[in-house]
Amino acid sequence: MNTGSSATQRPYVTYRSLPELAGVCTMDRAIHANWSLEQSVARLKRLHYSLRRIHETLTEKITSQPIYELKTAFSYHAYLCAEQVDLIRRRVSEMREPPLGLDKDPEESLVVFFDEINGSDSTYELLLGIYELALPAVLEACERLKNDAHPLADAPTVRVARLIVFELQELVQFGKRALQCLADDSSTEDAEDWLEHLRIFLKVSGGIDGADERIEAERCKKRYPKEKAEYRREPRRDERFIDSFNAGVNPEVFLYDDRYSAQDKTLMMYYKRLRELDVPEMMASILVDLRHEESWGFHMEMSRQLWDEARHAMMGEVGFASIGIDWTKIPINFTWSRNLNLQLDARERHGVLFFIEQGLMPRTGKRYEWEVASESGDALSALFQDFDWADEVLHAQIGRRWYVPRYSDLKEALSYGDRCWSKVLSYWQDDLEQGRTEHWNWWPDLYEQACRIWGKTPDPETLVFAETYEGKRADLEEI
Ligand SMILES: [Fe+2]
Ligand SMILES: [Fe+2]
Repeated sequence: MNTGSSATQRPYVTYRSLPELAGVCTMDRAIHANWSLEQSVARLKRLHYSLRRIHETLTEKITSQPIYELKTAFSYHAYLCAEQVDLIRRRVSEMREPPLGLDKDPEESLVVFFDEINGSDSTYELLLGIYELALPAVLEACERLKNDAHPLADAPTVRVARLIVFELQELVQFGKRALQCLADDSSTEDAEDWLEHLRIFLKVSGGIDGADERIEAERCKKRYPKEKAEYRREPRRDERFIDSFNAGVNPEVFLYDDRYSAQDKTLMMYYKRLRELDVPEMMASILVDLRHEESWGFHMEMSRQLWDEARHAMMGEVGFASIGIDWTKIPINFTWSRNLNLQLDARERHGVLFFIEQGLMPRTGKRYEWEVASESGDALSALFQDFDWADEVLHAQIGRRWYVPRYSDLKEALSYGDRCWSKVLSYWQDDLEQGRTEHWNWWPDLYEQACRIWGKTPDPETLVFAETYEGKRADLEEI
């Protein structure tokens, strides 16, 4: 058997010294036979498990994570991890693997490592676990895979490992900065203690890929037993979000009223975009509740959609920044995600999501928003609405792939979503009576401020706009 020699017998010669082997590696490297398909699959499966757990944990924390910058970052990072999971699944399926066996858990210590990170309720512990330990360990395992895999025989795996490193290093950078910014939330001693606690599980497992030397450890006590883990489905926002129950302004009525100017409508559209922060909060709950019921394809596509919705919220944030308006002075309502998460089950919530997204009529839909933005002279709004529209077309397709087939036809699927939406109680009056909000009309202040910046006199009719959500089902809410 040829197990490869340590070097070629003499310098290997190619045509006019062109790089050998399509440039994937040197002949000296290629003649080594210390790799196997079995090893490759085993490492990929552990990476798959780890990235899937990180994806699940980040998704699960989106709803209850109050800090806006983390909520949106978790949405992004969960999606990027999902893309890597997808890459790995495809590669494993190419290696004589069906049945893939990708849903089997690896050894217990690696399972517990991720359970512990997932179980903590502390943001700082979560950031340490994910960004200081888990993700760097994944990158390390990918680097090792890149080096150990046979560069020619297993070139597609090398490519996967390289792509993962390329895409995920930005997450680690983000995490490092986030930890520095929030360092006051934990003592150095507590942080070290937590990291040490987690490291033991990783060392017992031989690292993410199992290729490190393993240590023997006495049974470590779990801090956050899985049985006690509970998903927190009530959305939370940080202290910059004021008056989150406020439903004192109905942007849809304003947007579709021809009396108001396109420029004034862009302001309301930026608000509507930012308010979309409630969509990731709600979609995350669907993914958590259907974790074991739906296939990977469902989770992959819904994660993409979730990230798009977080992007839409950030487009609103950017819009306000472009005008020079402090969005924290405006109530960004969260009762949509709150009511849905607390009142409906996951299938019903998905029905509402599909019904609203599918129901964007041409007159009041995404094309209309883009037309208004284009007419307004605000190039940024036009750009954002252009992409927002494209994203929503994609979301409607995702709904048709993953939601509609559960029903006999599109009509039944839509009417189920409609019925679910009608079931949601909105508590407009209760919120007022119980002092959760006064539903104050924040529009005139915002509009006047924008007019000052734009250097124009406020339109008197626009200034007095005072439609609320009282007694209304927010049918036109676009997401
Ligand atoms: Fe959408
Ligand atoms: Fe959206």
